[in-house]
Amino acid sequence: MGADPGCELCVSSGPDEWVLSYSDADPASERTRETLLTVGNGYFATRGAAPEATADESHYPGTYAAGLYNRLTSQVDGQTREDESIVNLPNWLPLTFRSLGGEWLVPEAFERVHEHLVLDMRRGLLTRELLVADRNGRRTRLRQRRLVSMAAPHLGALETRIVLENWSGRIEIRSALDGRVSNGNVSSFGALAAQHLTVTETGCDGRDLVWLVAETSSSKQRVAEVARTLVYQGGHEVRADRRTVSEAGLIGQELEIDVGQGEDVVIDKAVALFTSRDRAIAEPLVAAREEITDASKFEDLLLAHSAAWDRLWQRFHVGLDDGDGSRLPVHVHVFHLLQALSPHTADLDAGVPAPGLHGESYRGHIFWDELFVFPFLNFRLPELTRALLRYRHRRLPQARRRAAALGMKGALFPWESGSDGREETPRASWNPHAGRWRQDYSSRQYHVNLAVAYNVWHYWQTTADFGFLAAYGAELLFETGRFAASLATYDPNDDRYDIRGVMGPDEFHDGYPDRPGQGIDNSAYVNIMTAWTLARARDAHELIGKHHGDEMWQGLRLSDAELQKWDHISRRLRVCFLPNGLIEQFEGYGRLAERDWDEFKRQHGDLKTLGLVLEAENDSPNRYQASKQADVLMLLYLFTAEELTALVRQLNYPFDPAIIPQMIDYYMRRTSHGSSLSRVAHAWVLSRTDRSRSWEMLRAALNSDIADREGGSTSEGIHLGAMAGSLDILQRGYTGLDTREDMLWLNPMLPDELRSLDLDIRYRGQWINLRVDPTKLTLHAHPGGAAPPSKVTIRERVYDLAPGATIEVPRNG
Ligand code: BGC
Repeated sequence: MGADPGCELCVSSGPDEWVLSYSDADPASERTRETLLTVGNGYFATRGAAPEATADESHYPGTYAAGLYNRLTSQVDGQTREDESIVNLPNWLPLTFRSLGGEWLVPEAFERVHEHLVLDMRRGLLTRELLVADRNGRRTRLRQRRLVSMAAPHLGALETRIVLENWSGRIEIRSALDGRVSNGNVSSFGALAAQHLTVTETGCDGRDLVWLVAETSSSKQRVAEVARTLVYQGGHEVRADRRTVSEAGLIGQELEIDVGQGEDVVIDKAVALFTSRDRAIAEPLVAAREEITDASKFEDLLLAHSAAWDRLWQRFHVGLDDGDGSRLPVHVHVFHLLQALSPHTADLDAGVPAPGLHGESYRGHIFWDELFVFPFLNFRLPELTRALLRYRHRRLPQARRRAAALGMKGALFPWESGSDGREETPRASWNPHAGRWRQDYSSRQYHVNLAVAYNVWHYWQTTADFGFLAAYGAELLFETGRFAASLATYDPNDDRYDIRGVMGPDEFHDGYPDRPGQGIDNSAYVNIMTAWTLARARDAHELIGKHHGDEMWQGLRLSDAELQKWDHISRRLRVCFLPNGLIEQFEGYGRLAERDWDEFKRQHGDLKTLGLVLEAENDSPNRYQASKQADVLMLLYLFTAEELTALVRQLNYPFDPAIIPQMIDYYMRRTSHGSSLSRVAHAWVLSRTDRSRSWEMLRAALNSDIADREGGSTSEGIHLGAMAGSLDILQRGYTGLDTREDMLWLNPMLPDELRSLDLDIRYRGQWINLRVDPTKLTLHAHPGGAAPPSKVTIRERVYDLAPGATIEVPRNG
């Protein structure tokens, strides 16, 4: 499809760093586009599917509400299994037209002469221009604009302008709510039960409203959608002839209207969505009817929505000059992050879903990915990270149950979490390369606990929110610390503690070759992070002791014996080393077989699916020195080289940081990047040793979803952790920004390709503009804010940054 002179989007849009634009027909990638063209507001989101589309090979309309899950039982491979999934909600988009008595606009009945889709990220507006011809050569142009309101979180709206280009006549318009949906976005879940919803009620008010209520089968959540459809002709609202259409699971209206050639008709459809999880409502349908009755028409909704986006963009401004087109992917990442997690999410009980609210991959579960997401949010929307940490805190009782079931103390958060915080990791997952189910032992990734602890501490360091630390954070640190301490076993022979039977971040190793599935021992990542966590738990204990009297402890106070034990463990955990002195990923990694991975790559295209391919060949990644994703190197993602050195030395091992470049090289050569998080971690790690390569990897991470580099998986949702993590490389990786010891630290090292960087961050209540250009680093504290001067360390020199003050430091000074 070429440019079309009648298409407003072709005429007005050139390359723009705020706009995702598609004007070529490509059925193979339409599902991926639908993910990237999702509009949402952190409360709910709707994929960018066409309003006339139903789910088929190349389309998948999907709408998801944050935190709304349901559990279904399936029979697979002779086994009964239960899976909890985020639920695909009734489709509110359906809108189509026909000439009276003709064929409805569906993909098969019309020729798509021209189609152009533009997502304007500055305003959160998806615009579609479509020129179709029917079998009689009648050409009709549709201009559709769509939003999910960032100003009013329960509202979505779709405006359709219809112009009959070379004909005139009476047309029918059908606007509906379609509850005949199931979960079908992920092909590898094809064998699993998918029908989560039953439509329990439909209705209409005889004027312009129709509604549909559905209920999930086991979580018994009610979802109500009410749609209002108005028609305008010549700028005036008209009362078209209307009839209600009602089929099983679907309710809508058909409107009839006479239209002259070239004249335009505007259909203004708005929907209100409420669920029984919402607060401050009596009942979802009542709330939705009230909301839609008060809703303004599209243009006014758009004004309020754009203003809300404008405010968000001011907070989330990331300016960069690379001369290489990176601004567009940066905007895409910020935009989708905020559509999955926004200020509206802070009011919910929801976590950080791995695929955003953009698809059904990983069943919308919550993993450790928040480790990559929080740093960017902490500096801009700490009220949101606080709420996301409270999602964890509310699930402590489940986490305690899980630890107890393993015979441990404290609390163990699940590797995959959904509604109530029980372990949701499937026991078997489909291997498409082998055409069979494989056992999945990833629930041994207890390190998710360490991520929660890390996030608590960094939230506290960035915000100084002592109220949170005392009321929730400390308990999270103590309970995860307690679990880690009970997992560690003491070896009196060399006065060391071991942690056995776990999995590190690298999912290729769920055990040793002779005992797969039983976990590996002494993961360097797990043990070093555990030492750090126990030390921070002790710090939190001391801090609270200092600020609070005895009566404030509410049963949290730790005994001296426990504190001493934690201290001992945090100094005596075992870390293994390779003969060349490098930290060993886990005990015995160095004894595993080596293989020529370049040769493997030549045979199989890439290494991403290395684990699944090996299994299909009846081999196992457990046998090899290969990692799915950054594992040991995650330590350098989370800690500076100085901190890591101090941590290893605190464990009483000699460690020379000069060995770090060799360590990076060793593990990078063995990493397949089978997770999108891996490139983020590696780009970060390289930012200190090989900036040009780091930039190359960051560019790959920034373009990973846009170019669908993750093997087609973008059609099933975004990679939220990688999106936020890549922004954080710009924010913290290249500026050396860090918060520790009650100070802000900076040490900028931009890659040569990145000429300047300009960001606003909020540190302990103070907004600070941070700008790095080739000659200097400039910090400017916003004059507002009564915060005490922030302490900032820039290359070992400490500055006081008072409100309104500016600090300028030459880059090589
Ligand atoms: C990665 C995990 C990650 C999950 C969800 C997996 O492929 O190995 O580290 O948490 O995807 O993003």
